[in-house]
Amino acid sequence: MNTFDVYPLFQVEPVKATGCWVYDKTGKAYLDFYGGHAVISVGHSHPHYVKRIENQLKEIAFYSNSVLNSLQLELADKLGAMSGYDKYQLFLVNSGAEATENAIKLAGFHNQRNKILVFDKGFHGRTSMAVQATDNPKIQTSLDQNDRVIRIPLNDIDLMNQYLTEDISCVLIEGIQGVGGINLPEKEFLEALSVRCKNVGALLILDEIQSGYGRTGKFFAHQFTKVRPDLITIAKGMGNGFPVGGVLINPIIKPSFGMLGTTFGGNHLACAASLAVLEIIEQEDLMNNASQMGEILKQELSLLSSVKEVRGKGLMIAADFDFPIKDIRRRMVTEHQLFTGASSNPHALRLLPPLGIGENEVELMVDKLKTVLK
Ligand SMILES: Cc1ncc(COP(=O)(O)O)c(C=O)c1O
Repeated sequence: MNTFDVYPLFQVEPVKATGCWVYDKTGKAYLDFYGGHAVISVGHSHPHYVKRIENQLKEIAFYSNSVLNSLQLELADKLGAMSGYDKYQLFLVNSGAEATENAIKLAGFHNQRNKILVFDKGFHGRTSMAVQATDNPKIQTSLDQNDRVIRIPLNDIDLMNQYLTEDISCVLIEGIQGVGGINLPEKEFLEALSVRCKNVGALLILDEIQSGYGRTGKFFAHQFTKVRPDLITIAKGMGNGFPVGGVLINPIIKPSFGMLGTTFGGNHLACAASLAVLEIIEQEDLMNNASQMGEILKQELSLLSSVKEVRGKGLMIAADFDFPIKDIRRRMVTEHQLFTGASSNPHALRLLPPLGIGENEVELMVDKLKTVLK
């Protein structure tokens, strides 16, 4: 059997990784400024993360959601305290798309409406409702075509007020658009959106799958505003590579048995990995580090003459070049051992390094970039 060939691959095979470095089998070191799509939050193979998963594996790795699992409660407590959402409820899943699906379902259960408002360039996953909410016709099939989803430009308050009416079940918006090229919802826009949602009885879903977990310097990107969403979706950095996701749910939404479910969601290993991530973020003050390193990185990038704009918060950054970045990105991997990211904006270089990087790594990254640009 062969694998289903859907991923264009760099001809590099990492076999080992520590901190913000990955190594191929010849021992060649690559500087990781992408974290495998924003997944590596606390650094590759962090010793505390490894130990906590290892210890858990020796005890129990999995049992279904039909028995008690106090690790889930421990995780909910810690996540609630660190994120400022201690009164919310946590539903654990396995991926970002699954978090999106469940958040949309909860909105439907809550208000029985059947329309969703989303934004241009948004990305929310590839499963059924998630892909319909995603702004990319190339990954939608004939089965995903319907009139359930209404899509409008980001940051247009007048249009938003016009389209966000009483037939909308929920609004889905990223804390910062990632795949779309690091596009920020304006504070005034997000706050107006939240008010309008309340006025028309639509639920506000903040997709923090990429922008959450301390990446922007706050626990969630929307926390730069006054907004308190009804639902918050999480994944990526949550498990630092262990597949886990979740939905934070406002207490106004009441659960009932059988309403949602998943076999693997919230398993013992996933909880151990997620707890380890939160403990490391706290112990190493990684949100602060993300803010500080992000400022230095943005400053350095903005000094490059071919960079037209630098956007982002903390360590979720894009540099827009005056040419498409595909070729320099490939050369950075193959000639200079530096991983960076692309997006749906061909000119935007997307940077999502682990949150613990230091000034030396920032300097090294910028030096490598400068060499490629020469
Ligand atoms: C903002 C956002 N939402 C949802 C997803 C989907 O997550 P997953 O690939 O884990 O299904 C992604 C993945 O890139 C994302 O960036």
